[in-house]
Amino acid sequence: MSLPPEPPIGLLAELTHRCPLQCPYCSNPLELVRARGELPAETWCRVLDEAAALGVLQVHLSGGEPTLHPGLESIVAHVRNLGLYANLITAGVLLDERRIDALAAAGLDHVQLSLQGTDAATADRIGGYKGGHRKKLQVARRIRAAGLPLTVNAVVHRQNLDQLAAMIELALDLGAHRLEVAHTQYYGWALVNRAALMPSRAQVERASEVVDAARVRLRGRLVIDYVVPDYYARRPKPCMGGWGRQMLAVTPSGDVMPCHAAAGIPGLAFANVRDRHLRWIWDESPAFRRFRGTSWMPEPCRSCERREVDFGGCRCQAMALTGDPHATDPACELSPFHGAMMQAAERESGATPPGFAYRKPARALAVPSTLPPAKAAPASNSSRC
Ligand code: SF4
Ligand code: FES
Repeated sequence: MSLPPEPPIGLLAELTHRCPLQCPYCSNPLELVRARGELPAETWCRVLDEAAALGVLQVHLSGGEPTLHPGLESIVAHVRNLGLYANLITAGVLLDERRIDALAAAGLDHVQLSLQGTDAATADRIGGYKGGHRKKLQVARRIRAAGLPLTVNAVVHRQNLDQLAAMIELALDLGAHRLEVAHTQYYGWALVNRAALMPSRAQVERASEVVDAARVRLRGRLVIDYVVPDYYARRPKPCMGGWGRQMLAVTPSGDVMPCHAAAGIPGLAFANVRDRHLRWIWDESPAFRRFRGTSWMPEPCRSCERREVDFGGCRCQAMALTGDPHATDPACELSPFHGAMMQAAERESGATPPGFAYRKPARALAVPSTLPPAKAAPASNSSRC
């Protein structure tokens, strides 16, 4: 009999798929959960109890836009009462001074605020939200005034990568402790917009130089996290720290996934927190066991010395680009698809970018609940644990 897996470190709580922005690289699934399918606060708090018992240390409250969930303050307070680290990942445009202070009073530990660019015209066009950039800058300053540590999240691509030096200065000016520069991951909605987003190799090389110089200059003032994008890499990243190894993600309707994008892998059945205890889902559920460890790997990963370093890369990217979720991530130069991936990047980044395909809220589809409605919490009770 195999030993149970090590406990997860972090839980990504996707409180809602609703969001006022329409970023063309959105990591939410193509089919969104509607508001009426979302878990109420009391269910989230029970899930957090189970997460703490399982060994989770950090809770990342995300979405969509998590500030749209009416129970956010209760959920934050519950995370803190459990002794866990509460991190809010937000677009910020719906926050005001009263709400930020309430979240700080509830025990929020940290905020990650997304910026789409460094000027309003660029950022508002990318986010599909007029006035958003100006609001975000106000919110960033208010977050710092409330005494909360701030990370600026910048998803980068061909249409904002040349603003990287300015983004570093903006993060400093806003009092951020950390800047997370994340190249777009091309699955889900971002794959639809890949040609509009793919940077050139020259842009990526310039960006690496900017980051290297800034890291030296700003040592002790600003931490900059930066990873080379997959399409120009030689080896993949250990996506999610390895499947079912460090993280779990709970969707707005309670499905539990090893990765927030795993719904793009056909044939995986996800257990739901309304039916199953988180410990069973982590230890036993087929979706978590499917790509855990190394025994599922085909060659060349199976006999590769890096198989316990990168765990074969990203399963979602393998599925999106090869049609086979077992395949070696094409970001690896040992993958037979690596050359085609690089050629696609060079071809698309060398052509005039098409316009963005924005995700329209009207496209949201209801995801059926696994429970009859009678067991769901009444709406009037949805904001309290
Ligand atoms: Fe990683 Fe597999 Fe490539 Fe080896 S062959 S570096 S394990 S992706
Ligand atoms: Fe799902 Fe990488 S995004 S495994």
